[in-house]
Amino acid sequence: MRAIQIDRHGGPEVLTVREVPEPVPEDGEVLIRSTSSSLNPVDWKTRVWNVGPKLPATLGWDLAGVVIAGGDTAFRPGDHVVAMSAQIATGRGTWAERVALPAGLLAKAPTTVPLTDAAALPLAGLSALQALGKAALTSGGRLLVIGAAGAVGGIAVQLARRSGAVVDALVSRPAHHEEARALGADRVWHTPAEPPAGAYDVVLDTAGLDAGHILAPGGRYVSIADHPLPDVPGAVKSYVQEDRDQLAHLVSLVERGELRLRIAHRYPFHQARAAHERFEAGGTIGKILLTF
Ligand SMILES: NC(=O)c1ccc[n+]([C@@H]2O[C@H](COP(=O)([O-])OP(=O)(O)OC[C@H]3O[C@@H](n4cnc5c(N)ncnc54)[C@H](OP(=O)(O)O)[C@@H]3O)[C@@H](O)[C@H]2O)c1
Repeated sequence: MRAIQIDRHGGPEVLTVREVPEPVPEDGEVLIRSTSSSLNPVDWKTRVWNVGPKLPATLGWDLAGVVIAGGDTAFRPGDHVVAMSAQIATGRGTWAERVALPAGLLAKAPTTVPLTDAAALPLAGLSALQALGKAALTSGGRLLVIGAAGAVGGIAVQLARRSGAVVDALVSRPAHHEEARALGADRVWHTPAEPPAGAYDVVLDTAGLDAGHILAPGGRYVSIADHPLPDVPGAVKSYVQEDRDQLAHLVSLVERGELRLRIAHRYPFHQARAAHERFEAGGTIGKILLTF
């Protein structure tokens, strides 16, 4: 079978489609035929930076696909599933035609969207849900999402609105205003100087800005970015964790039409280099998918 691997760190040119042995599922694992994955910033960072598992390594965190062999698990051949695999820590990359994953990482895929598109959900959805969980936002609480047009930010805006929060957005460019409003944001800005100082109970920062001044006294600043936290009380980082139950909850929101998946581009997997180039150029609204 074929997998997208790197054997050194560098630009998109280090991404190579290689013939590799098909994985053999161990006890408690499920073998999945991939239909799609999506690009996340961690993928290009793992490609460029000297981080991640021993090389050569298969990249990729998101997976949507069809179960081929379920072994002694709750999954049966033919089931449509999604998963997030913490590739950087475990080395279990999803950019391959077949992937073996522990059954405990899988959730049934949403039935209301094409299976291919469901690969847009796992990493971004879990990141948004878990970061909001750290924020302890209450109904009626005031939230500013920085990077609201992005993958994690866009899901966070939708989830927070659904929980009754008042959500404003900071986006990178004026062209993203309309998108942030369509997701449910009330007020939208594109420079950190614009939001009123001290106005927010929670700031969810997906872009790594030094925007502590926006937080109200006693508020919570949750960042998922690599940058240092602003020097304000209540500033914490959130790191995404694999969590099947939370993933199943996100799937149920998609199925009920309460969470919208946004797809910008679809690339066949052998065009992974072009997909990375497009992703790193920035400015996309919606996820970039790799299809298998
Ligand atoms: N800690 C964790 O567990 C975790 C989990 C998921 C993601 N992350 C990190 O979180 C970041 C966002 O991830 P993502 O998947 O949401 O990426 P994404 O889809 O690329 O979204 C990032 C968004 O932030 C916008 N942005 C960039 N600079 C901005 C600025 N100064 N002000 C306002 N918006 C700005 C980008 O706009 P443009 O496209 O116009 O630049 C884009 O819309 C990445 O650095 C990623 O590595 C961390």
